[in-house]
Amino acid sequence: MSTTKPVRKAVIPVAGLGTRFLPVTKAMPKEMLPVVDKPAIQYVVEEAVSVGLDDILMITGRNKRALEDHFDRVPSLEATLEEKGDEKKLAAIQESNNLGDIHYVRQGDPKGLGHAVLCSQRHVGAEPFAVLLGDDLIDERDELLGEMIRVQQATGGSVVALMEVPREAISAYGCAMVSPVEGESFVQVHGLVEKPAPEDAPSNLAIIGRYVLHPAVFGVLEETEPGRGGEIQLTDALQTLARREGEGGGVYGVVFRGRRYDTGDKLSYLKAVVTLACGREEFGEDLRSWLRDFVSEGADVPSTAGA
Ligand code: UTP
Repeated sequence: MSTTKPVRKAVIPVAGLGTRFLPVTKAMPKEMLPVVDKPAIQYVVEEAVSVGLDDILMITGRNKRALEDHFDRVPSLEATLEEKGDEKKLAAIQESNNLGDIHYVRQGDPKGLGHAVLCSQRHVGAEPFAVLLGDDLIDERDELLGEMIRVQQATGGSVVALMEVPREAISAYGCAMVSPVEGESFVQVHGLVEKPAPEDAPSNLAIIGRYVLHPAVFGVLEETEPGRGGEIQLTDALQTLARREGEGGGVYGVVFRGRRYDTGDKLSYLKAVVTLACGREEFGEDLRSWLRDFVSEGADVPSTAGA
């Protein structure tokens, strides 16, 4: 049996530049973009809390203000809603203040996801921990993070979330080379490649934005040279851990077959919002019927150039 320490902390990096989403990300992190009526980041924090990770560290950049405000109380707004007796809206704004214990650390210079994770070292210490990317949403009805934590505890290594994608889409992701583990539902990861060309990809298994990492990753990240795009890549550090034997070595994968919504680029984000909005009890049916008419009538859509 593994003697690994329990997973108690979640790290959420939100310091990226969000260049795929400019100009809206000029002054606010993409994780604050609304997905129906909550910012994307709130879904991610709720997911962490739902598996018992209520010690949350956000790795922020210079635009952290909106994030901090969102997870803080707004006494004047609460008082106004209380006076009006609007309990529903009051509960909605209080929901985000009561989500665990949220801490913030500044990354300073966005030198890559690996560097962002390294910024959490002092807060995390020598325990395994989860990393959740704020632009990847996992449907609350589908289990992923809980299973990843179980695999980390059973193996004592690090765990990545994998998803099958069409081969031509793999160049947008980190890609894993895996083999089955006898008698288990998870796989062993032997190698990882960041954003390979489809013809060079070792599989169609993409790494998605959930990780449960052994703290040995910090030592490896300290030694990891900037890779693709001049950034310190988490994938490169995991590649080293995948080859390591003994304490903290070994990388495993949980293949996720549930519903995932990507909010990191414009088109995926729009699809995520429409999908989640269509499922909403208050207006989902109206929206679906409007969409059917909109599409079937071949609406006269004005064409505008994007950034
Ligand atoms: P992405 O590569 O998706 O984010 O990083 P990005 O760099 O902000 O986006 P584009 O490509 O320019 O549009 C994955 C996650 O890692 C965080 C991001 O905020 C995102 O949640 N990140 C990335 C950091 O916190 N720091 C970094 O230096 C880089």
